Amino acid sequence: MKSSTWYFLVWCIGFSLITTGLSQLQVVGQKEPIIALLGDDVILPCFLRPSTSAVDQTVEWQRRDLTPKEVHYYSDGRDNPDVHNPVYKGRTRLFEEELKSGNMSLKLTGVKHTDNGFFTCFVPKLVSTVKTSVIQLIVGAVSQPVISVVGPKDYGVVLKCDSGGWFPKPEMTWVDSDGNILPDGSTETETDSEGRYTVRGHVTVQKTDMFTCRVQQQKINHKMETEINVPGGVFPWSRGQKAGLIIGVLALLAVAVLVGLFIWRKQKKEKAELKRMKEQQEDKIEELGIKKAKL
Ligand SMILES: *[C@@H]1O[C@H](CO)[C@@H](O)[C@H](O)[C@H]1NC(C)=O
Repeated sequence: MKSSTWYFLVWCIGFSLITTGLSQLQVVGQKEPIIALLGDDVILPCFLRPSTSAVDQTVEWQRRDLTPKEVHYYSDGRDNPDVHNPVYKGRTRLFEEELKSGNMSLKLTGVKHTDNGFFTCFVPKLVSTVKTSVIQLIVGAVSQPVISVVGPKDYGVVLKCDSGGWFPKPEMTWVDSDGNILPDGSTETETDSEGRYTVRGHVTVQKTDMFTCRVQQQKINHKMETEINVPGGVFPWSRGQKAGLIIGVLALLAVAVLVGLFIWRKQKKEKAELKRMKEQQEDKIEELGIKKAKL
């Protein structure tokens, strides 16, 4: 084959690839979930690719798990809020200027816990096989942990940490002032009626130090910490201290017994001495009496 034929073939293949690419107009979103905190405003992305005006399309944002499922409805060049689910009334908008370039992203204001879920961007009249794109919204909630001292146990002190109103389910860890993670105490997790998590953990510490209760949620990239200073005074007597106390008391008792014995023996000796001296005196008196009698 001549080189010109090759060029022609390559050009044909290239052209057909480009045209099929063009005809593959599709709705595109984002695979990774959108993460927000309670009360935030978010933008849920959705586009036409390759970039094509969406002004004359019908654009439906839906929560297919709700009835009615419409989150935002745009058709015939205008929004139609009457069909929106009441939960989303007044909280959504498309970017009018952006529609020209196929940007159908949705702005959702003041996200609530109930906004957790999957949002579908649907362009029903699009001449394409890919008319939808689904995006997950994760609405995180965090709260400051609260630490309290439960009391002494064995030779340590039990600390409790509480943190409620989390979403998604967080993890709790205890850390000492050197940043060492303490061995796991017990941790319980509960959910409230709105599906929010409360975590509660106990740990027994053995020394006076600054301890931190850390509650974190990787998915929403959030961490809340509270510190507590555990002073020496709250610790019960340690094993060594108890043994020392017992030995001390025993030693004192022994000393007292010895001193008592010593005094008792000394007094006994003195009494005996006194008795002997008395007897001697009596003897002498007697002797004198006898002498007198003889005179
Ligand atoms: C779509 O529009 C929104 C709002 O103006 C903007 O934040 C976003 O970056 C746009 N996306 C693209 C791909 O242009």
